[in-house]
Amino acid sequence: MLRCRVCGGAVRECLDFGRQPVSSAFVDPAHTGAELFFRLAVGFCTSCTMVQQLEEVPRDEMFRFDYPYRSSGSTVMRKHFQQTARQLLDTELTGPDPFAVEIGSNDGILLQDIAEAGVRHLGVDPSGEAAEVARAKGIRVRVEFFEESTARAIRAEHGPADVIFSANTISHIAYIDSIFRGVDALLAPNGVFVFEDRYLGDIIEHTYFDQIYDEHFYLFSIHSVQAMAAQFGFALVGAERLPVHGGAVRYTVARAGARRPAPEVAELLARERELGLGLPETYERFAANIRRTRDDLLALLRRLRAEGHRIVGYGATQKSATVANYCGIGPDLVSAVYDSTREKQGRLTPGVHIPVLPPEEFGAPYPAYALLFAWNHAEEIMAKERQFRESGGRWILYVPDVHIV
Ligand code: SAH
Ligand code: TYD
Ligand code: ZN
Repeated sequence: MLRCRVCGGAVRECLDFGRQPVSSAFVDPAHTGAELFFRLAVGFCTSCTMVQQLEEVPRDEMFRFDYPYRSSGSTVMRKHFQQTARQLLDTELTGPDPFAVEIGSNDGILLQDIAEAGVRHLGVDPSGEAAEVARAKGIRVRVEFFEESTARAIRAEHGPADVIFSANTISHIAYIDSIFRGVDALLAPNGVFVFEDRYLGDIIEHTYFDQIYDEHFYLFSIHSVQAMAAQFGFALVGAERLPVHGGAVRYTVARAGARRPAPEVAELLARERELGLGLPETYERFAANIRRTRDDLLALLRRLRAEGHRIVGYGATQKSATVANYCGIGPDLVSAVYDSTREKQGRLTPGVHIPVLPPEEFGAPYPAYALLFAWNHAEEIMAKERQFRESGGRWILYVPDVHIV
């Protein structure tokens, strides 16, 4: 029997996407053939309800020195983290010499404003190339995985942290016990551990099945995060819904007994109970919706291709690795995918090998259809590419169901 990585309870398998590549491993066309595959399957814990993957991809295969993801590619996300930094500066980083640590600081999208405010800070991220981008903005970064030993070393060198912040990273870390022991070692007695991540409730409600890929080892809910915090001697004292990435939650965790929980925690927990996130039938319904999306999307793409239309993809997201590999969408259906990340251009998408091209080539000439893999940035991308629609092109979306706009 599989054991929960958080509480040791029994895990029941509920979703199987089959053989999948490492979602950030964009392939050099000169070196194909050496890709790592794993079984992407998900289960939920019958004790603490934590939704988690059944197979763990080694962290060094995912978060390499040349990890290509860059957070600052989206102006919407940049604004979001600007506001987040402001909020932390105004509420938690107000003492005489505050210290903030970020786990998964990437290109410095959040720490930028904390550094500019002159506040002591340290980013921790194993992606060395992304860290270089952050350093060029005057941000201090340790190129390392955060875990218990890293936390102890930081504590010894810099003293306790008033805030440990993390966005879209804690859910990526299977060895969560080491993270919490590290937070325990590093956090000041009344400090807070604040992290935001995509929300399981939204993923199920809107069939965002592509939020499931190697890196998203856990899919957090308010209930499961509360149980996880308690497991390690902490308490969930804040929860805030966020509109980013299709729906996320910002969790605030403090040492047990140190702070009084905000009323929103109980409110959101009550609302969450109606979603049935601990019930097997919820996942059966989710699985049926996923199969329907796959069948509808494949049928649409095949019909359009049979009619002679050219279809491309937009946004070489890591989410698209699950869509393309699970549905079997290769260059025969989607001839290229356009993406603004320089590190991905000129490469092939993992597994199905669709060429990634710069957005400057999207309109030369425009295709008939563009499959929007970066649906979470729909507004920003559609505004940027207004001319595509004006010249008769159509967007294909597959969330919450398959439709053309
Ligand atoms: N916080 C940014 C980046 C998210 S991508 C944002 O929200 O946009 C996830 C980042 O976490 C990557 O840069 C990856 O290298 C980093 N990461 C993964 N495991 C980590 C760990 N154990 N400690 C610190 N960073 C980690
Ligand atoms: P994102 O959805 O943030 O994450 P993930 O890879 O985790 O699924 O990725 C968005 C991708 O879309 C990223 O590779 C950059 C690209 N992109 C563009 O090409 N143009 C844009 O205007 C935006 C906002 C993103
Ligand atoms: Zn559990």
